[in-house]
Amino acid sequence: MCGIIGYVGPRPAAQLLLDGLKRMEYRGYDSAGIAVVNGTGVTIEKAAGKLSQLEELVQGRLPKGTLGIGHTRWATHGAPTSTNAHPHTDLLGRIALIHNGIIENAGAIRTLLEKRGHTFRSETDTEVLAHLVGSLYQGDLEEAVAAALREVDGAYGIAVVSADEPDVLVAARKGSPLIVGVGDGEWFVASDASALLEHTRSVIYLDDGEMVVLNRQGYRVRDLQVRRITKAVNQIEWDLETIERGGYEHFMLKEIFEQPESLANTLRGHLLDEEGTARVTGINLSDDELAGFDRVVITACGTSWHSGLIGEYMLEELARMPVEVEYASEFRYRNPVVDAATLVIGISQSGETADTLAALREAKQRGARTLGLVNVVGSTIAREVQGGTYLHAGPEVGVASTKAFTSQVAALALITLRLARRRSMSILQGRQFIQALRALPDQIQRILDKADEVRQLATLFEGKRNALYLGRGVNFPVALEGALKLKEISYIHAEGYPAAEMKHGPIALIDESMPVVVIAPRDAVHAKIVSNIEEVRARGGRVIAITSDGDGEIARLAEATFTIPETLDLLTPILSVIPLQLFSYYVAVARGCNVDQPRNLAKSVTVE
Ligand code: M6R
Repeated sequence: MCGIIGYVGPRPAAQLLLDGLKRMEYRGYDSAGIAVVNGTGVTIEKAAGKLSQLEELVQGRLPKGTLGIGHTRWATHGAPTSTNAHPHTDLLGRIALIHNGIIENAGAIRTLLEKRGHTFRSETDTEVLAHLVGSLYQGDLEEAVAAALREVDGAYGIAVVSADEPDVLVAARKGSPLIVGVGDGEWFVASDASALLEHTRSVIYLDDGEMVVLNRQGYRVRDLQVRRITKAVNQIEWDLETIERGGYEHFMLKEIFEQPESLANTLRGHLLDEEGTARVTGINLSDDELAGFDRVVITACGTSWHSGLIGEYMLEELARMPVEVEYASEFRYRNPVVDAATLVIGISQSGETADTLAALREAKQRGARTLGLVNVVGSTIAREVQGGTYLHAGPEVGVASTKAFTSQVAALALITLRLARRRSMSILQGRQFIQALRALPDQIQRILDKADEVRQLATLFEGKRNALYLGRGVNFPVALEGALKLKEISYIHAEGYPAAEMKHGPIALIDESMPVVVIAPRDAVHAKIVSNIEEVRARGGRVIAITSDGDGEIARLAEATFTIPETLDLLTPILSVIPLQLFSYYVAVARGCNVDQPRNLAKSVTVE
């Protein structure tokens, strides 16, 4: 996730900005930059890669000045190059701006400004915003920023400076965190308290739609109509390490709790409510071309492979498209049957997994069309595929993948919707699907609000060495994912199975000491899975069930239940996986395991 720092005060700004950016490195980023204002103009320095590269660039020639802004970028629009790095400037190069978030109507604003003679250097939505502020500037930066923000849709945390007002820094937020640091005769703005803590513990938390103007006399908070707002100054009590994890004990827990937001970001800008379809323009295929493939092959590893299995259910059921899902490591050595009539979709959080990359290369070489569903912008897979969509889930630091999974399923749902609408789905069904997608972030939040219930359930695993996860239909891959999460971080042996397949072998394992986690929402196969639960109970197995709100039948059968809100059958995995992620987390913590860096595992597997 991008980081923002801004400073106004008596001290040289450049080193202070670089130090602040360093404090935010843990958030993940791929380029960095600073802008410092002095009597003669704005000096901008930026570099792709790690902060050390920016430090090297400015070594011995730090820009002079006591007011400035700094940014670490985690790419969302355009590759992580130094041209795309922030700060960006307006047409005249007098205004510099840094930005976290996504400006959804940047394309339309860009076209409008181009007609008025603006030219752009980067591929970013941020440069468009900088130009917009510049085009509205009439000697008052505060007014120009407010006017520009009244025209944009989307999410932002921004900080802006102007060569023509060397004592002023304007910052604003909507949907992206921003706090003001109140020091002794100096003021800060930052996206993250960790960047401020060594200077001050007194902060103001900006709310959405608020703007702050910092100058050498102090600060004032305004709304976008430039009306005054009074804000309280708070004291930060946390230590630095806690803040980097946003107050959570582990990155994994933080990332689980980020899912309402990460999922909304994956869907943002893609849904066309009126037409009942999805945009997903990045796949670089017309509706006819997309519908013209004979079949789809999805290839991935680990958690990403599980999301691919869910994609298979969605694409076959709704778009009536034949799908196969292949482990990338098998696909690449299997002499696969793919050709120009095959659409091959690679799914990868990191975009660097060696097996997935090789599988996609193999498919491309055989003439297939390749798409990537990738989280890390500018990663190798993202660069090599012929189209695709970014997940926009934000950086995932915990080795166990959580928020990337729900975003992958959502991205597959978007592609399914677009294809299904072209092939078999009515506009009304399309609208219903969109409505259900839009409800998911709030539904996830409702599940997270009950995290303590899951913590209680986790005690049922005390002293256990094995576990079975069962699901049917689209929740069978969720059973696989739940089992993978448990074994990855708690080292308990766990198996995921289609519930009806249990009787063909694994049923032999069931006794009083075997916990069986059953994913059983109220869906088309509900009655079937009730029978499977009975089979487990008849053998003394201990059932922990994930069911739909109000499902009394399963509550009576299971030893413990956790309920999730109802959604369309095919979208339940996005909800049913959340308690399983929390469950493995709490079990692992209770066993004293290193949750964020489990033994033997790497976040990105770049070797065969
Ligand atoms: O970055 P990718 O999505 O390509 O990674 C694939 C797997 O290595 C990854 O999902 C792995 O299984 C995780 N540890 C799952 O939590």
